[in-house]
Amino acid sequence: MRAAAHAGTRRRRPAGLSDLAERARQARGRAVAPFSRFQVGAALRTRAGEVVTGCNIESASYGLTMCAERVAVFKALSEGLTEFDAVAVVADSPRLTAPCGACRQVLWELCGDVWLHIVDLRGGTKTLRLSKLLPLPFDARNL
Ligand code: THU
Repeated sequence: MRAAAHAGTRRRRPAGLSDLAERARQARGRAVAPFSRFQVGAALRTRAGEVVTGCNIESASYGLTMCAERVAVFKALSEGLTEFDAVAVVADSPRLTAPCGACRQVLWELCGDVWLHIVDLRGGTKTLRLSKLLPLPFDARNL
């Protein structure tokens, strides 16, 4: 199980997070967000260094909207990529935008305890492990 397999490894913050954030910033420019006007970009990196990006994609049936992070995760898995080490998320708001609860859950289950690099457009950044944002997670080990 991915999350458990990664537990206790990769303690040190990985290199190249600002390049990953730049990929997320570019993806943010492709956001389809006519309803909220809130654009988000994500860039997910495999342990081998491949990068897959995502942006939020909204629907007029609002509940069908998909967050940038989950677009990136689903794209990556559908391309056969596994073993992730970091995800950068870029948005523009007065406070740093961390992944929503649904994305935390999906990231945890499908990517493990990745590093999160959260960035805004004014130079604000925060880097932390996903487990910090999702303590006491529910996952396959509970079933
Ligand atoms: N959004 C994301 O893409 N990622 C998040 O983690 C938070 C929210 C998007 C969904 C919606 O298109 C817009 O931001 C406003 O909620």
